[in-house]
Amino acid sequence: MKYDINKLIETSLEMRKMSYVPYSNFAVGAALLAENGTVYTGCNIENAAFTPSNCAERTAFFKAVSEGVKDFKAIAIAGGPAGNDPIDFCPPCGVCRQVMSEFCHDEFKIILVKSKTEYLTFDLTEILPRRFGPIDLLG
Ligand code: THU
Repeated sequence: MKYDINKLIETSLEMRKMSYVPYSNFAVGAALLAENGTVYTGCNIENAAFTPSNCAERTAFFKAVSEGVKDFKAIAIAGGPAGNDPIDFCPPCGVCRQVMSEFCHDEFKIILVKSKTEYLTFDLTEILPRRFGPIDLLG
């Protein structure tokens, strides 16, 4: 991989500090690398009414798309109890996978981060096989 994977991993871990998680106390950070080299960061943001809560991954995607960026290479995701290091890998929820499906090619990389040195990398097709995407509607 040409991009700095260690930087992306560290940014996802760092972004957990920005999470607003008074209800779950589960802090997730994300670092989304665009094809143009820009990194868009995200954290989860919860809400007293629960359903308006937003995952870290979608925060990062929506920041990028709202700035006109729609081509992506990879995302690093780190999650675990707030104020502590992650105790395991944090896979993206189904809604976030579907958002990835809208904007990302089959080889888009999802990097699940447990620590600076422990991570797992998957292609989008591995974590969301037979996905429903723009091509199904637009041809
Ligand atoms: N969460 C994320 O931000 N990303 C994921 O991939 C999984 C779940 C958030 C949502 C909620 O704020 C908390 O983690 C517990 O579900």
